[in-house]
Amino acid sequence: MEKVQADLLVKHAAELATPVSSGLAPAEFQVIHDGGLAARDGEIVAVGPTSEVMSSVQPMQQAQIIDASGMTVTPGLVDCHTHPIFFGGREDEFEMRVAGKSYEQIALAGGGIKSSVRKLRTASKTDLLEAALPRLDRLLSLGTTTIEAKSGYGLSVADEVKMLEVIKELNRVHTLEIVPTFLGAHEVPDEFRSDKKGYMTLVTNEMLPKVREAGLAEYCDIFCEDHVFTVEESRAILLAAQEAGFGLKIHAEQLTRIGGAAMAAELGAVSADHLDYCIEEDWIAMAKHGVVPVVLPGAVHFLGKTRYADARAMWDIGLPVALATDLNPGSCMSESMPMMMNLACIWMGLKPSETLIAATQHAAMAIGRGNFLGSLEVGKKADLVLWRMPNHKHLAYHFGVNLVDKVIKDGLVCTTPVV
Ligand code: NIG
Ligand code: FE
Repeated sequence: MEKVQADLLVKHAAELATPVSSGLAPAEFQVIHDGGLAARDGEIVAVGPTSEVMSSVQPMQQAQIIDASGMTVTPGLVDCHTHPIFFGGREDEFEMRVAGKSYEQIALAGGGIKSSVRKLRTASKTDLLEAALPRLDRLLSLGTTTIEAKSGYGLSVADEVKMLEVIKELNRVHTLEIVPTFLGAHEVPDEFRSDKKGYMTLVTNEMLPKVREAGLAEYCDIFCEDHVFTVEESRAILLAAQEAGFGLKIHAEQLTRIGGAAMAAELGAVSADHLDYCIEEDWIAMAKHGVVPVVLPGAVHFLGKTRYADARAMWDIGLPVALATDLNPGSCMSESMPMMMNLACIWMGLKPSETLIAATQHAAMAIGRGNFLGSLEVGKKADLVLWRMPNHKHLAYHFGVNLVDKVIKDGLVCTTPVV
């Protein structure tokens, strides 16, 4: 049998743990002991027990050969919901919340998203790029190889475009792969306080065409919530986005249940995110229309709330539940997917292996990349992580530490320092 050439060979992993993307939802899971993997030009060419991989592969002359003895190898984590472009933190609001004020009270008093908007508008593209780079380094060093990144702190044509251009530039200069999402309808900016309709017209008639024309975003998202955009307002904006060629996403039923998830199902959104207040009829609608539910336990935890999305029940009715950080300065200041995996076990009843599927294959599906990313299978991208742990369960079990040994993106070992 002719051997496949490889420029990367990982061998003798204590465990190689990966979802299997057979098209089933939820995805299946496979653990290979003494696991091996080979890749060429950033694509996986062989996976299996080390002995099998070694006998089917011919390492090329300059091939990188990595001994993963004692370690666990998983796909690179996919963080399918982040807001990583912001300028300055909201640590003062955090302190106010700790002292008893709620996220909603702070937002109604002019803080919250609006305070991030004020700060972002004063920043240049260079300022934003420099502020975001360490966040991307942290994401990568914690095992994340692909993220989705949203605009939404600009809320004017120029500032939304500025954010998306920064995302585009970050995608070019940083190892992380970034999928851009336009979130112009994240809040109504102060200058439109008494003219929400006017702002919606700006979003649909100016921002959407401009962002689309410049190819700056693949998805359009909206914050569908009491006091922000109602279901009918969200539907109008999402329909315009769909018409313009965007894929759809939605922040739905985070703080109240107003019907955003069912509407997302009706419009065929790729994902509906948060979902803390969803009930069975919403899950069924999502399942029927192939909407990926993205759960964000970090936001519930960070806001000091107690109602988590019922990921267990969603999983059990056959939904491909995905997990993400929601990284942002207001409701989840964390780049750590392993931390989210821990929270999803403790508060949402998922098993460690299920949180790994949610953080990889299902998360890739939430950004339309389920066929290319999210599992260690032949033909997929060689995005993988070597963890200093004897088995995959430690990923969700051992929390608050970084056990990454190496991150491999597109078949290349990353040099990002562990931060
Ligand atoms: O996903 N829900 C809306 N957006 C963010 C919060 C953004 C902020 O507070 O700055 C979220 O939780
Ligand atoms: Fe969010």
